[in-house]
Amino acid sequence: MAFVSMRQVLDEAAQGGYGVGAFNVNNMEQIQAIMEAARETKSPVIIQASRGARKYSNDRFLYHLMLAASELYPEIPTVMHLDHGNSVATCKSAIEMGFTSVMMDGSLMEDGKTPSTFEYNVKVTREVVEMAHAKGITVEGEIGTLGGIEDGHGAGVDSLAHVTDPAQAEEFVKLTGLDALAVAIGTSHGAYKFSTKPTGATLKMDRVIEIHKRLPNVHLVMHGSSSVPKELQDVINAYGGKLKPTWGVPVEEIQLGIKNGVRKVNVDTDSRLAITGAIRRVFWEKPEEFDPRSYLSPARDAMKQVIIQRMTQFGQAGHAADYQPIPPSEMAKRY
Ligand code: G3H
Ligand code: 13P
Ligand code: ZN
Repeated sequence: MAFVSMRQVLDEAAQGGYGVGAFNVNNMEQIQAIMEAARETKSPVIIQASRGARKYSNDRFLYHLMLAASELYPEIPTVMHLDHGNSVATCKSAIEMGFTSVMMDGSLMEDGKTPSTFEYNVKVTREVVEMAHAKGITVEGEIGTLGGIEDGHGAGVDSLAHVTDPAQAEEFVKLTGLDALAVAIGTSHGAYKFSTKPTGATLKMDRVIEIHKRLPNVHLVMHGSSSVPKELQDVINAYGGKLKPTWGVPVEEIQLGIKNGVRKVNVDTDSRLAITGAIRRVFWEKPEEFDPRSYLSPARDAMKQVIIQRMTQFGQAGHAADYQPIPPSEMAKRY
């Protein structure tokens, strides 16, 4: 199966009332973990690469690994998505390379740190929408700003400082014509999202519900949606790691979001935790090992297990064969 546009995958998810995990990758093992999880659960998948991932891997490598994935897993509808594009030029280069979906994150300025103005966000997002839709490529935008800072990306402010204003979200969608809207509801990237289990005061699911009421036909996106399970933290700490106690986004809150218009759920940290725990365990238990395969195989398998859980919990499991991909040229005509 060829790559599919994210718009088609999210339209299908909306029709079926389920969510689709969008999992970040930087290397071959992570792509393999996701594709194996997708095959086992019969799930459509969104694989996403950040600017950091494109730089780390040299994105030609990443692109060809993704091509291999589409050849080896022809039964899986696969979206290749740019996560947190910081400028029109970054989105353009991803589209030229063959990504089938891009995020223009105009909630921050090009430095990926400074919160932008509404007018700036509308301008750059609209520009990307015009460029992308002409080629049948999907566009995700963001209104409101996530908290925290991870690998140079993020406003670095309190997670509740720039929670999405529902009226502004409505206006933003009208002015940009985007396909999917990321909203800020108190989450942040990385492992340290909440210092206690989140409540309605720290994780604003009521915003999602209100935004969905105003924009029932827009696909909502939750960023910073790793659950940071205690079991994964414990494995890391049992084998020499030093994670401080922390809470992520409980899966039941994500499921509440999915009942209220959330169609794309971004997860990176949970994969990182699973990989790191598995590698630490081999280093700790078998210090004589030096073949990278001895620790990368368990790492890949640990990530696969987390992804299987999320695909099942988000409801995308079992939906891979529901539809045939619409080519981008045909998608372009639908806009
Ligand atoms: O946007 C956040 C994702 O977790 C990607 O992180 O920029 O470190 O690749 P990264
Ligand atoms: P996590 O850090 O919670 O996995 O969030 C990932 C994300 O939002 C990528 O865009
Ligand atoms: Zn994100």
